[in-house]
Amino acid sequence: MPAASSVISTAISFDTDLGLAVLRTRNSVYALRVGADGSPRHVHWGPELDPAALRHPRSPADSSFEDEAAADELGIQTGPRFGPAGLQVRFADGTAGAQWRFLGHRVEGTELRLRLADRRYPLTAELCYRVHPDTDVVERWTELTHTGGPDDGQPDDGQHDGQHGGQRDGQGFGPGAGTEAGACGGTGAGGGTGPGAGGRTGAGPITVTRLDSASWTAPRLADYRLSHLVGGWSSEFQLQRDRLPVAETVLTSRRGITGHHASPWLALDDGTATEERGEVWSTALAWSGSWRVTVHRDPVGRTTWTGGLGHEGLAWTLRPGETLRTPVFAGLYTQGGFGGASRAWHAHLRAHVLPEPGRDRPVLYNSWEATGFDVDQPAQCRLADLAAGLGVELFVLDDGWFGARTSDRAGLGDWTPRTAAFPDGLRPLADHVHGLGMAFGLWVEPEMVNRDSELFRAHPDWVIHTPLRDATELRNQLMLDFSRPEVEEWASRTLDRLVTENAVDWLKWDANRPFTEAGRAGHPDPDRVWIDHTRAVHRVMDRLRADHPGLRIEACAGGGGRVDLGMLTRTDQAWISDNTDAVDRIGIQHGFGQLFPAQTMAAWVTDSPNGLTGRATPLRFRFHVAMAGALGLGGDLARWTQDELKEAAELVARYKEIRPVVQRGHQYRLSGSGDVTSVHYAAPDGVEHVLLSWRPTTRFGHRPAPLRLPTLDAAARYLDTDTGQVHDGATLRHHGIDPRLPAGDYASSLIRLRRLD
Ligand code: DGJ
Repeated sequence: MPAASSVISTAISFDTDLGLAVLRTRNSVYALRVGADGSPRHVHWGPELDPAALRHPRSPADSSFEDEAAADELGIQTGPRFGPAGLQVRFADGTAGAQWRFLGHRVEGTELRLRLADRRYPLTAELCYRVHPDTDVVERWTELTHTGGPDDGQPDDGQHDGQHGGQRDGQGFGPGAGTEAGACGGTGAGGGTGPGAGGRTGAGPITVTRLDSASWTAPRLADYRLSHLVGGWSSEFQLQRDRLPVAETVLTSRRGITGHHASPWLALDDGTATEERGEVWSTALAWSGSWRVTVHRDPVGRTTWTGGLGHEGLAWTLRPGETLRTPVFAGLYTQGGFGGASRAWHAHLRAHVLPEPGRDRPVLYNSWEATGFDVDQPAQCRLADLAAGLGVELFVLDDGWFGARTSDRAGLGDWTPRTAAFPDGLRPLADHVHGLGMAFGLWVEPEMVNRDSELFRAHPDWVIHTPLRDATELRNQLMLDFSRPEVEEWASRTLDRLVTENAVDWLKWDANRPFTEAGRAGHPDPDRVWIDHTRAVHRVMDRLRADHPGLRIEACAGGGGRVDLGMLTRTDQAWISDNTDAVDRIGIQHGFGQLFPAQTMAAWVTDSPNGLTGRATPLRFRFHVAMAGALGLGGDLARWTQDELKEAAELVARYKEIRPVVQRGHQYRLSGSGDVTSVHYAAPDGVEHVLLSWRPTTRFGHRPAPLRLPTLDAAARYLDTDTGQVHDGATLRHHGIDPRLPAGDYASSLIRLRRLD
C-alpha cells in the first residue's frame, strides 16, 4: 500500500503516515521517525538503501523497553531514558524535562524542521536538518522557544509556530517559504495520563541546563573505536584513536574557547577502518566557546553521542517569547576510511564554511619569533625588505606595536601605536610594505585587557568577572566581556578604525587566555556570558568583513586554541600552534588535517635551532613541512645567511608553483615505511600531483619503501617534472615511486608529477 508521502525535494522526503523523514546526500541516507510518544527517533545513518526498508510498520520507538527503543534525535529527560540528555530543562514550578507532542514538519529547500511542543508547558523545539547537493554532510541544530506570552500561566494551545520567538539572540527564525505539514497520523500527543493532560501550564522562565545541537547514533557495529584530538599549548591536534569503552566518554572544553586540549570533532568506526578503507561516522561542532560532546556506548551495544555549546553546570534562562538557537553540529558518513572522511570534510568546508575558499592564501611573513615585543618601525621595515626579497606576499606585524606594550604585562586594550616605536603611527610601515608589493597585516587581541592599560583604568567593569571572587590573571591579562553591547560596539569601532586608518589587509586575531570566574553578579542570567561572548566575537568578525570586503582574518588563540567550524566560517586560516619545530609540526598537522583543509593551516618556517625545542633542522626540511599548508615565514631574516636567503627564495617560488594543488587539491595521507611520513595532493582535475615526504630520523640505513599512489589512473602516464622521468600509472599505483629522500636525519623531498594523457 503506497504511503502518503510528501516528497518535497530530491534531498528530503517526509512520509506523513509513518512520520518518517529521509534525507539524502550524494552518497548517504539519514532517516528518522517520529515515535508514538512524539519524540523523533533515529532510524538510519549510512549508505544508500531502498527507502522501503525503512518503512517497517512498527517503529522501534514504539517499544516501551529502554533497551529496545531507538535513540532520540535529541535526548530528553522523561520516559525510560537514562542516558545523557541533549535537552535538559526545568520549568518554573520545578518540573524537570520535556515531553513532546509532534506538531508537524516543514521543508524549505534542503532544510527540514521538525516542530515539537511540550504537552503541558509553553516550550517548543525545532530540530533542524540541512543537506547540500554537493557534500555528504548533514548539518543539524536546535531552536528552543518559550512560547508563553507576557501573561503566561495561561494554558497554551501548543499551536504557536515559534515565529514570534524572541530576538534576543538576533537569531530567531523568520517566516518559512517552504511547505508545512500537520502532525502526522498516530504520532500526536501520546501518553498524557496525569492531571491536566491535554492542556499546558507553567508560568515563568524556563531554566535550560543543556541544549545540544543534535544527538547522533551510529548503527550497531561489532565494536566501536573513537578518534579525537587532544593536546595542549605547543602540542595541539594530537590524534588519539582508542577503543570506545562501554561508558559515557565526555569530550569537552570548559574554557570559553574551543581549547588547545580538545577539539569538537570526533570520528567513530568499528575498529577496522584504515586510512583508505572502511566506514567512518564523524561529527564537528561549529562553536568557538565552551562545548561538550558525550559519547555513550551502552552495555547492550548501542553508541550515540550528543553535543553542543556549553559545559556542565551552566544554566540559561529562557523567558516568554525568547528563542535559543544552537550552533550547527555537522555529521558525515563516509566509506573511504579516515582519509575519505577527511577529504569529504575538506570539500564541505570549501563549499559551505570558508568565506573565500577560492582565494589563494598568501605566503606571509610574521615578525613574532624574530622580534617578540621589541618592535619598531626601522626594524620592521628592514624585515619587510628582506621578506619581500624572498617573494613573501603579506607582511604581518605581530604583538608589541601598541599602548605600553613592551612586554605581556601592559598595554592590551590600548589599540593605538606605541609612539616610541612608531612615531608617526603605523601608516608609514603599512605604506612601506605596500610599496614593496606586499599586503599589510596586523596582530590584535581584541578580547583582552591588561590591568595596566588605559582601557582597564577607564572601564574596570568591562572584564568578565564575578565581583566577590579574585580574578585570575593568565599571561597577566583579563578577558573583556563581549556579551556587553557597549564592549562589542567598542571592539567593532576600534578594529574598524585600525583597519581603515592603517590600510590593513589582514588581521591576526589572537586570544591568549580562557575564561575564569566567569559570570556577572546581579545579572538575571549570568551564564549567558558563555554563549553571548562567543556570538559577539563572531558578529564583530562578520561585521568587519562585511565593512571591509578585502580584509582577511587569521584565527589564533595562543596557537591553535580556537579552531572550529564556527571560527572558520569567518576566518581564512588558523595559526595552529606556537610550536614551529618542523618535527613536532608533522604530528600537529596530521591531526589538524583530519578535519581542516590545507589552505586553512598556517605553517611557518622559523629559525634553527628552534626557539621552543632547541632542535636544529635544515632549512629545506622546515620548508617542506610548512609547504604542506599555507606557507609562512617567521624567522629572524636579518640573521639568515645569504645562502639561506637564496635557498628560501627558491623554496618560496617553488611553493607558489604547487600552491593551487596544495591549497585546493585532494589530500591523501600515504602509508610509507615506518619512519617516513608522506602526503599526496592531487589537483581536482587529476593532472597535477604533489608529494611531500619527511623522515626526521633515519634508522638502520634502511632505504624507504616506494610510495604507492593508489588514486592515480593506471592507464595514464605521469611526468616527474623535476627529473623528466615518465612513469606509468599502473606502476605508481601498484609498485610506487621512490620518495627520493637524501641520507641522514631530517630528510625531506618534494616530488611533482603531471599527468600526460
Ligand atoms: C600567541 C600567538 O600564538 C603567537 O603567534 C603570537 O602572536 C603571540 N601570541 C603574541 O603575543
